Amino acid sequence: MKLTQAQAEKVEALLREMTLDEKIGQMNLESPSIVGGFDVSFEELIEMVNDGRIPQEEFVKIMSTAKRDFHEDDIRAGRVGAMMGDDPVKANELQKIAVEESRLGIPLMMGFDVIHGFRTVYPIAIAEAGSFEPDLFRRTARMAARESRAHGVNWNFAPMVDVARDARWGRVSEGPGEDPYLASCFARAKIDGLQGDTSSKESYVAACLKHYVAYGACESGRDYNTTTMANSLLYNAYLPPFKAAVEEGAATVMASFNDLNGVPCTLNRFTLREILKECWSFPGFVVSDANAIRECVVHGIAEDEPTAGVMAAQAGMDMDMGTEIYLNNLKQAIEDGRLDVAYLDEAVRRILSVKMWLGLFDNPYVPEEQIATNEVIPQTNLDLALEAGEKSIVLLKNDDNLLPLSKSQKISLVGTLAAKPEEVIGAWAMSWKPSDCVTILDGLKNQGAALEYFPCGGPDAPMNDEEIAAAAAYGDVIVAVVGENVTMTGEASSKADISMPGAQREMLQKLLDTGKPVIALLMNGRPMALEWEAEHLSTLVECWHLGIQMGNAVAKVLFGEAVPQGKLASTFPKMTGQCPIYYNHPNTGRPGSKSKFTSRYLDAGFSELFPFGYGLSYTTFQYDDLAVEDKGDHLAVSVKVTNTGKRSGVETVQLYMQDVVGSIVRPVKELKGFTKVSLEAGASAQVSFTLNKSDMGFYNNDGKYLLEDGTFRIYVGGNSRDCLMQELRLVF
Ligand code: NOJ
Repeated sequence: MKLTQAQAEKVEALLREMTLDEKIGQMNLESPSIVGGFDVSFEELIEMVNDGRIPQEEFVKIMSTAKRDFHEDDIRAGRVGAMMGDDPVKANELQKIAVEESRLGIPLMMGFDVIHGFRTVYPIAIAEAGSFEPDLFRRTARMAARESRAHGVNWNFAPMVDVARDARWGRVSEGPGEDPYLASCFARAKIDGLQGDTSSKESYVAACLKHYVAYGACESGRDYNTTTMANSLLYNAYLPPFKAAVEEGAATVMASFNDLNGVPCTLNRFTLREILKECWSFPGFVVSDANAIRECVVHGIAEDEPTAGVMAAQAGMDMDMGTEIYLNNLKQAIEDGRLDVAYLDEAVRRILSVKMWLGLFDNPYVPEEQIATNEVIPQTNLDLALEAGEKSIVLLKNDDNLLPLSKSQKISLVGTLAAKPEEVIGAWAMSWKPSDCVTILDGLKNQGAALEYFPCGGPDAPMNDEEIAAAAAYGDVIVAVVGENVTMTGEASSKADISMPGAQREMLQKLLDTGKPVIALLMNGRPMALEWEAEHLSTLVECWHLGIQMGNAVAKVLFGEAVPQGKLASTFPKMTGQCPIYYNHPNTGRPGSKSKFTSRYLDAGFSELFPFGYGLSYTTFQYDDLAVEDKGDHLAVSVKVTNTGKRSGVETVQLYMQDVVGSIVRPVKELKGFTKVSLEAGASAQVSFTLNKSDMGFYNNDGKYLLEDGTFRIYVGGNSRDCLMQELRLVF
């Protein structure tokens, strides 16, 4: 996010001209309030859609008839710096008021949650991360940037880059999984995608990195809960994706709801000022999460709202989302001497700089012709959504080689999830249309499958024995779509039991009892506890929520027209009680094993169900000849990968390391690289990695990065569990 000299000067000139009220106005993010008979804010309404309190169609209906207050008078008076919304016509109207009728003509930022696509919805982040393909992350983000900018949204509240290791937390669906390295690759690519193409104003938006920080570590996976952690863990696991994205130029950051070691992140001077702004030299601005400044009073860290506002401003919180606490209190605080105006100058300089970089001063409006044309989703977007869907599907089990299916087989498709358009979308997507959604039922039909559909049951639908009998009578094979409704993940959707909900397990048992082969397709937004399913079913495919092209992507993979190549970005436990569970945990003095006095559970043992990085193919891959050479400033690592099966396939080759002895206990394995290879049946490839020694260190509890001499293990394999290993001593 670089400004030209002239742009920087314009920011300073504006700042000199602004009154105190106008400065505070820039620090205020508003959302349209719904008034008259439906008295909730737009932001809350969105949360209601998102957590399932009202269905999408109801939302559309409310929005088309509701009387809304868009704060036009406040905009005119310079009391609003940013607005939420996704309506291009309204965006232009409001922008016109800001530009032509406010005293200084400062344009508005228009923010919206565009987490995994706008109109074209692609896979949820945890699924897409499993493609292990940064270029794909970048391309889907670029597509989302263009689409949202065409709708007047110039500020995307994305990417979410929270490392999350506890699948009970519903928001695991929105982020890139459990690993800091993969999450950092994801973060960089998303920033590049959203912000990187500044060739025209239509092609980029300001990203908003969220949720800063450690939100994914909320205690017991319960949303908004407290987080407590040593600095070493914060620096080694939770900060890296944010740091990577800031290095990539992220324009804005959203602070998280949680407290970190006793201080809510909304007013946390250590994380906002010392780490983000001072240590990382972040030039953009920080926004609070919705209502979070007010919640600091509920947290019990501030006596009242005015104090919360002062504490947040001092800590480095530049913009207030949704409470008007800044708007109503900061002027008085300055006049009383409780707050220095320098804090405001800093915040406003940052906000204006982002607006300047976005080109809003020169081009504030969505061009009329664009508003008229973006009703039809372009084929290029559909192709990309399909590609992303195909690459995110993870084959977990195919013991009886039931897959791929042949088109001559009669398929009984089962499960209510298979036929509901809204279920393909995933949490936090708002601007899609049901008519764009391809369900699994649609997708199989599009592929010309010989099939009949029998709902039989679902996460919240009772089991229907007659339909089960009919399904058994018709098909040569039963394809059962099971899992979670979209509303079971996302914000405020934590669960204490992440096993198969409702009567779906019984339904699967009954289907198995029919004697017909059963393929289970999982639709869900979190790792689930699937010990029973893995034990009883020979064939399991993790399909996640793949977006509008979900059905086509799944059908192509089922028929082998696309190869399954996704890997898990999060460990799957056997039982909920194993959470949090993640592959790169610190070593213990008694690593889990079959013997009793080791780190294990009596009822779940010591291992996961499916490890991080895991995913099968329709072929098999063999790893040989791991070689590790010390080249001075880096290690040259190579391995031979052979496709030992009868079909072509794509493998994600993963590089891990372990620092065996450290001055603080180190993880048992850490991902340090990955690369995808495409191999024809019988073919081999030599895969090479460069591991810079400077990347082999870690942060201690003082936040100091250390490279310590000693023994290291280098691992390469197709998942985090099954790897070849070589040990060597290193001197840095
Ligand atoms: C609350 C969520 O935590 C955040 O992710 C989102 O961007 C804001 N609300 C705005 O909708």
